[in-house]
Amino acid sequence: MRPDLTTALPDERRAAPSLSRPPGKRTARSLIQQALLHGAAKPLLFIACLLPLAWLVYGAAAGQLGANPAEALIRRLGDWTLRGLWLTLTVTPLRELTGLAALARFRRMLGLFTFGYACLHLLAYGWLDMGLDFGDIARDIAKRPFILMGFTAWALLLPLAATSFNQAIRRLGARRWQLLHRAVYAIAIVALLHFIWMRAGKHNFAEPAVYGALLAVLLGWRLAKRLASRLRR
Ligand code: HEM
Repeated sequence: MRPDLTTALPDERRAAPSLSRPPGKRTARSLIQQALLHGAAKPLLFIACLLPLAWLVYGAAAGQLGANPAEALIRRLGDWTLRGLWLTLTVTPLRELTGLAALARFRRMLGLFTFGYACLHLLAYGWLDMGLDFGDIARDIAKRPFILMGFTAWALLLPLAATSFNQAIRRLGARRWQLLHRAVYAIAIVALLHFIWMRAGKHNFAEPAVYGALLAVLLGWRLAKRLASRLRR
C-alpha cells in the first residue's frame, strides 16, 4: 500500500520520489525503503510508541513499580520523554546518512509521542507529587531550578506540537515551519539540563553523560552540514 503523501510534512515529501522510481536492482537499502513505505509501517510504529506506556500502566496495576510507585512513574515517563526526543532528533541524520528518505515519514509521529510522554510526565508530577495544587506547582517551578528546566522544555515543545498538523504547516509555510521546528535542538539542551540538574543532587551523571554525548554528535553533525553548505556557496 502506498502512503498518502498529500498530507505529508515538508520532510516527508522527500520520501516521495523513491515511490515513482522503477524497482530496478533490489539492494538491501531498497528493500528497507520499501518496508518503511509500507502501509503497515506507521501503525506498527504507533503501537511501538504505546508499548512503554502500556508497560508502565501494567507495572502500576500489578504493583511492580517498587517501594515508591509515584516516583518510579514520574521518572520512567521522564526517561521515555528524553528517549523520544533523542530518537526524533536522530531521524534526519539517519535519513541523510543512509539515504533512506522514507524515514522522514516517522518523525512527526515520534515528535508527537514525545510531547504526549512529556505531558504525562508533567501530569504525573502535578498529580502524584503535588496533588494538583496549582499554587504549589507554581511555587515549586520557581523554587527548584531542575523543575523550571523541565517546565521550560515542555512549554517550548507546545508550539512545535501545535504546528505539527497539516493546516498549521500550510499556514506557516514550509520555510517558517522548518525554522520553528529547528528549536527542537534548543529544547533538547534544556531537557538535558533538567536531567543533569536532577541527577546532580545524587552525584549520578552516568546517564546524562551518555545523552549529552549523543546530543553533541547530533548537534555536531548539524553544524558540520551547515558549515559544508556555506563553504560550497
Ligand atoms: C521535555 C520535557 C521533559 C523531559 C525530557 C524530562 C525528562 C526527565 C528525566 C529523564 C528525568 C529523570 C528520570 C530518571 O531519573 O531516570 C526526569 C525527572 C523528573 N522530572 Fe522531568 N522532564 C521533562 C519535563 C518535566 C516537567 C514539565 C516537569 C514538571 C514541571 C518535570 C519534573 C520532573 C520530576 C519531578 C522528576 C523526578 C525527580 C525525582 O524523582 O527526584 N519534568 N525528567
